[in-house]
Amino acid sequence: MKLLEFKKQFQLFLKDEFPDTEINSFFNILIENYLGLSRLEFALNPEKEVTSDEFQNLNTAMLKLKEHEPLQYILGETEFFGLKFKVDPNTLIPRPETEELVSWILSDIEQDKTNSQLNILDIGTGSGCIAISLAKNLPKSSVFAIDVSSEALKIASENAQLNEVFVDFSKTDILNTESLLETFHIIVSNPPYVRELEKVEMHRNVLENEPDLALYVSNEDPLIFYRKITSLAKNNLEVGGCLYFEINQYLSKETEDLIKKEGFKTTLKKDIFGNFRMIKGVKK
Ligand SMILES: C[S@@+](CC[C@H](N)C(=O)[O-])C[C@H]1O[C@@H](n2cnc3c(N)ncnc32)[C@H](O)[C@@H]1O
Repeated sequence: MKLLEFKKQFQLFLKDEFPDTEINSFFNILIENYLGLSRLEFALNPEKEVTSDEFQNLNTAMLKLKEHEPLQYILGETEFFGLKFKVDPNTLIPRPETEELVSWILSDIEQDKTNSQLNILDIGTGSGCIAISLAKNLPKSSVFAIDVSSEALKIASENAQLNEVFVDFSKTDILNTESLLETFHIIVSNPPYVRELEKVEMHRNVLENEPDLALYVSNEDPLIFYRKITSLAKNNLEVGGCLYFEINQYLSKETEDLIKKEGFKTTLKKDIFGNFRMIKGVKK
């Protein structure tokens, strides 16, 4: 079959599920991954014959997309902060707002980044995206990362190898942790924060595919992770050290109050869409 012919089938098959622009973007990413073909190369050679292996891969991806499986899980990888990360259904797909959190942390570091020797902890590391991006940009710092999921930690370790950095990963349930073993300059976390009641707003690709363990908290106690992590940070951050969180935009005021009450000097930050999605607490 010719690639242009497949593209027409692809567009037709997915047209009731996604807008045209998204379908075209899926197609371009798939041909790049499976055929090593850029959009421009396709435009110059639309009559290219697809081999049976290539057709098999493209067709399987098309069927999975129809079921709203995220493209990142279909390909088994994604990009975050300019780096490649393996992902699977045990790891949350890293989000652009989390890249903004990493940018914020790095922009706050006043010393020379290539030589600064900071002790950093990432809580709920998932794919390892935050920890690994920080390790890559702060080569002399020591980065530790924990998660309760062994499956996520396995992927995170593979990602550290893939990106040629060392991160000290360990399996820990933060909610059952009495105290941290080290003192840190930076503690960062993007913990689960979506309330059960917010599930109605969520898309099928997230609801049906991404790990519940990474996403949801109860309606009754949505800040459980923030409370626990802030109380641990109170004892295990250096004076002047920083606690960074990605937060639930609907609970920014409550999250800030909680962190302030523990004695931190707080700053809320908006994402590029103008929503409060990050907070910093400086230990006084
Ligand atoms: C929102 S995801 C964030 C993943 C990754 N840091 C990111 O930003 O894409 C939350 C992570 O917290 C982990 N987690 C959930 N409960 C936990 C617990 N009690 N202790 C430690 N980690 C936990 C999940 O397995 C998941 O990887």
